Amino acid sequence: MCKHDFPTYRGQMEYVCLSCGARHAGDELLYTCPQCGGVFLLENTRFDELKAHDGAWWRDLFDRRASTRTTALRGIFRYYELLAPILDEEDIVYLGEGITPIIKAAPALRDSVGIPFAYKNDGQNPSASFKDRGMACAFSYLKSLVRRHGWTDVLTVCASTGDTSAAAALYASYVGAPLKSVVLLPHGKVTPQQLSQPLGSGATVLELPGVFDDCMKVVEHLADRYRVALLNSKNSWRILGQESYAYEVAQWYGWDVSSLCVFVPVGNAGNITAVMSGFLKMLELGIITGLPRIFGVQSAHADPVYRYYAAPRAERQWQPVQVSPSVAQAAMIGNPVSFPRVARLAAKFQELGGEKAFQVVQVTEQQIMDAMIRANRRGHIACTQGGECLAGLINARALGLIGPDEHAVLDATAHALKFSGFQDMYFNGSFPPAYEVTPDTSLSNRPELLLDAAKKQSLSPAEYTRAAAEAIVRRLGLVKK
Ligand code: F0G
Repeated sequence: MCKHDFPTYRGQMEYVCLSCGARHAGDELLYTCPQCGGVFLLENTRFDELKAHDGAWWRDLFDRRASTRTTALRGIFRYYELLAPILDEEDIVYLGEGITPIIKAAPALRDSVGIPFAYKNDGQNPSASFKDRGMACAFSYLKSLVRRHGWTDVLTVCASTGDTSAAAALYASYVGAPLKSVVLLPHGKVTPQQLSQPLGSGATVLELPGVFDDCMKVVEHLADRYRVALLNSKNSWRILGQESYAYEVAQWYGWDVSSLCVFVPVGNAGNITAVMSGFLKMLELGIITGLPRIFGVQSAHADPVYRYYAAPRAERQWQPVQVSPSVAQAAMIGNPVSFPRVARLAAKFQELGGEKAFQVVQVTEQQIMDAMIRANRRGHIACTQGGECLAGLINARALGLIGPDEHAVLDATAHALKFSGFQDMYFNGSFPPAYEVTPDTSLSNRPELLLDAAKKQSLSPAEYTRAAAEAIVRRLGLVKK
């Protein structure tokens, strides 16, 4: 492929309100419908032009683009035509996001679960979560707006359980003026590692008492009334960027996903929206010929989407829930703003792929922790939400929801290191009762101090090395060569 291979195709993006159906031009930043307050999805009104090529042509293009040297196409914009094909090359922000590895379950883990599966390690994104996919798109769009309008001052704001704020602050600090990042966090409900990220990026970090849902209402209030750029997934440009997850999964499996079960942890429901939207677009273009099955996973401590779909169809009524402490803290959300998007796309999935093409499973806190610890002891880097996915797979198997010829891919949405405090509590047996987690002590692990500092003081350097080595020989029962 030649060096300057940036696509010449341009689409036209429109916001479509999922409540009243109103359409608004995509050349301004809108979050909710000015007419009715409904949430949007972005639609390329020139999408049909892409059908001039068949599925094989698109598959071949995306396969060839895997070796591009054009920076703007190296991450999520490998799939430029399917994302936001109004952006110019100079607008695209690339920090190494996307194209994350899909790692087969270690054989022992696979055998204990009883089905072939893999983790897609989205914790290997630059800010260590999948949020970078959406931010790369949202910030590229913001850059294009700044260029076109000559804006001199743009405050980006988001509420966050930790990862959105880390990603937003990272991209804002990279792009620099005129963008400035402000993040709003529920005090004490973000891990120290997540908190260190926007601090390190130089964002203004504001905290409020309460949970994510409280902070979300506050930033919505601000975005409705003040000149700020909202970066929560209510911002539909984020959803487009996150669709790249589905494109990468399909490409990895050779564009054949019809026997694949895709497990996604659900919090604010932006991610599962994007994943479904991505697969639907590929189906429409013939890039894939069958849909995978989508399994949303929620903890019993934050499960409004599970409850909705668990009810018989005629009795379904959307009802936010009050959350209780969850180890899947990043997904601890009682009133997901993207629920209307999920409802719309899940219905489409089921229409095209049958009733079982979209399902939501519920897991306990105990199952999440046990699953994460088991996965990580087998060489994976799953965070608690990745543990939630594995617990979901185990439950789905136990419920008979997965057939013998199927396989699964689980979204490890963030890096395990961001949530190491939960591992500490598991290993130290220090979980507060509200989490309802009893550690399996056979899995706990802790450091052992072999010599104390006073001993070190009393010895010469050479004696110390010998004493320390002898302590290790005793501890491990080492045998002489
Ligand atoms: N996993 C991780 C690691 C997350 O950070 C989030 C959401 C989810 C799963 C759930 O994804 O919201 O798209 O359904 N974190 C948001 C945040 C809410 O503020 O960082 P979702």
